[in-house]
This record gives sequence, C-alpha cells and structure tokens, in this order.
Amino acid sequence: MTHDHYFTAEPASADERRTVDVELAGRRLVVETAGGVFSPDHVDLGTQVLLRSVPAPPTDGDLLDLGCGWGPVALELALRSPRARVWAVDVNRRALDLVGRNASRAGLTGVRAVEPDDVPDDVRFATIWSNPPIRVGKEALHALLLRWLPRLEPGGTAWLVVGRNLGADSLQRWLAEQLPEHRVERAASAKGFRVLGVTSP
Ligand SMILES: C[S@@+](CC[C@H](N)C(=O)[O-])C[C@H]1O[C@@H](n2cnc3c(N)ncnc32)[C@H](O)[C@@H]1O
Repeated sequence: MTHDHYFTAEPASADERRTVDVELAGRRLVVETAGGVFSPDHVDLGTQVLLRSVPAPPTDGDLLDLGCGWGPVALELALRSPRARVWAVDVNRRALDLVGRNASRAGLTGVRAVEPDDVPDDVRFATIWSNPPIRVGKEALHALLLRWLPRLEPGGTAWLVVGRNLGADSLQRWLAEQLPEHRVERAASAKGFRVLGVTSP
C-alpha cells in the first residue's frame, strides 16, 4: 500500500474524482472528492462532532476554515453565513480545487479557497473552525496554530476538534500556556473527540 499523505501540496495518489452525498447545515448536497484528500468518502466523524457542537457562526465578516480538505467545514460556514467571506485554507492544491468546485456547485459565492500565504496579512477572523492536521506532527501543528489563532478578532473564538487519543488534553494545556491572554476551554466531548474553544481577549 502506498502511504500518500493528504497534507502535501500535490498528493501522489490518483486524482480520481467521485461524488458523495452529504448533509451540511441541514441541506443535502452532492460534493466532489478525490483520493489524496482527507476523508473522501464521508464527512469525518470528528468534523461531524465539531459541526454539531459549535454555536452559530457570525453572520458577517471573515471566517476561517483552517485545513479545509474538500470543504465540509467551509461549506457549512457558507451555508449558515451566506453574507460572510469564508476563507478555506489548505496546503493541498487538490483539496483547494475541490472546495472551490463544491462551493460553486452549491451556489456559495462567499467561499475563497486559497493557500495559506494567499490570505492577506491584514485579514482578521470573526471565528475559526478547524479539524486541524494532527498527523503533520506536534511541531508543525503548534506552528500552524500559533500562526492563525492570534489572527482572531478581539472576542472571536476558534473551535478546534481533536481526537482524545490524539492528544486533545495536552494540546489544550499547551494552548493555555502559549496564549495566556486567550480563554481556552473544552467546549464538548463526544465519540472520542474533544472540541476546544480558544477565545481572543
Ligand atoms: C484533518 S484534515 C481536515 C479536512 C477537512 N476540514 C475535513 O473536515 O474533512 C486537515 C487538513 O489540514 C491540511 N493542512 C495540513 N497542513 C496545513 C497547513 N500548514 N496549513 C493549512 N492546512 C494544512 C491538510 O492538507 C488537511 O486537508
């Protein structure tokens, strides 16, 4: 078996596109997915826990899906907040192509699918929703979180879903140490996942 990582810019596995029926924000959608992206056959269980646990997103402003994959989180944000700009960010170009196509197909014009460096530096986020890439390793994960969480607007909250056995509790402690001005809380716990909330001062 080849071990293709879904978190590279150009995944090695075949770019075989498929369509999958999903339900997001109470709507049935047909989405396009492919090999070489995270959870191509269904909305990942951790992502489902995230989407069910978090409060309604702000209706306007800039919202971030950090590590968007084929886009379930970005699509949910855009369905629930059609007036907002939803930044769908990933390093995987195949994933970015998919989320762009999935947003267009659903008529969601507020979604911007871009690589991390293509988000203008002055953009601040009213909320961040993320199923972050734990498998990139602790150092890369920590760098990713310290890059994006400080870009919350004052009072804005980042919601992160992390597997309990993938270090959710130690990540919560680390976040509290690194971001002492932020409020770090465990907002939900279900099906082996924790949802962490990180609120900017
Ligand atoms: C656990 S997956 C979640 C995908 C999608 N949000 C979902 O719920 O199905 C994490 C995603 O983060 C992406 N990723 C990895 N490193 C990243 C980075 N440095 N910046 C942004 N995204 C990254 C991966 O390519 C992957 O698509």
